[in-house]
Amino acid sequence: MGKIVLTGIKCTGTPHVGNYLGAIRPMIDMGGTHCFIADYHALNQVHEPKAHAESVKQVACTWLACGLDPKKTVFYRQSDVPEVFELATILTNVTPKGLMNRAHSYKAAIASNIEQKRDADFDVNMGLYNYPILMAADILLFNTNLVPVGSDQKQHIEIACDIAKSFNAVYGDTLVVPKETIREDVATIQGLDGRKMSKSYGNIIPLFCDSAELLKCVKRIATDSSAPNEAKPKEHLIFQLYKHFTGKELDNKIGWGDAKQKLFEAMDKVIAPMREKYNHLMSHYAEVEKILEKGSVEARGVARETLDRVRKAIGVK
Ligand code: ADP
Ligand code: TRP
Repeated sequence: MGKIVLTGIKCTGTPHVGNYLGAIRPMIDMGGTHCFIADYHALNQVHEPKAHAESVKQVACTWLACGLDPKKTVFYRQSDVPEVFELATILTNVTPKGLMNRAHSYKAAIASNIEQKRDADFDVNMGLYNYPILMAADILLFNTNLVPVGSDQKQHIEIACDIAKSFNAVYGDTLVVPKETIREDVATIQGLDGRKMSKSYGNIIPLFCDSAELLKCVKRIATDSSAPNEAKPKEHLIFQLYKHFTGKELDNKIGWGDAKQKLFEAMDKVIAPMREKYNHLMSHYAEVEKILEKGSVEARGVARETLDRVRKAIGVK
């Protein structure tokens, strides 16, 4: 049987160029078999129903606009596959608490509270704490072999592997142990301020803003004061993005202003046809709903099989 290649994106805001280069494009290039919208994963952060629904819609339309073919890839919404949540509950029982204590996002939340002299658990909900277990359930339910993600998700995949191994150690060989797949050249795309591009840092280039907004964003990329003919660092975001979008190097002795213009043109050329498709889907969302419904039926077939195997292994009929 071919390999199962699965990934998801949590919907906590507008998809950006980092998501596209780090997760969406590699997944589509690899011919991923399963792709889903991690809507329940977003709930530890998003408590505003309208914003949540809008973000789910944006993520769904983004995948399809970027070229995901729902005839080749099972495309579904996490919340439409309740088997995920049953498996997550089962997995909590073979997950050491210490493993969750070491998870990066939980640790970062605690560290930030301590730094700000607040109670360590201030504003930390169990959704955040259990996040890696839910993610392990997403992955293990489908007998996944490869999980294409950006490098920030590496620890989560390692945790999913640990949980699968713990389960198998207790109950015998039941769950497939996955691998992450990080393309080193796009592992972390920087944002406008030089830090990792992330919705949480407010430094993103939205993937599907209009051309004028895209140009504005590109112009906001931080540069240094080097003169037009001076060689500039090739690792700079402008040269990196140019390479990702064209497959070619941009001469690094170009002035920053011209470089930004060239980058904008290169990005807009790739993004424009996808943007058109995205805008169409956003205003004809019933088409997307139909695709997701069909995807969830397909996903639930395999999900049921795995869950039955797991239930049998633990002694539940
Ligand atoms: P964000 O940090 O903006 O909230 P997500 O956590 O929703 O992004 O990430 C969705 C997917 O996109 C994940 O696979 C993640 O690894 C990838 N990704 C996010 N930001 C970047 C980035 N700056 N560079 C590369 N990949 C990224
Ligand atoms: N944690 C991932 C993110 O922040 C989303 C996600 C949830 C995921 N479940 C997954 C990614 C399973 C890959 C596989 O974007």
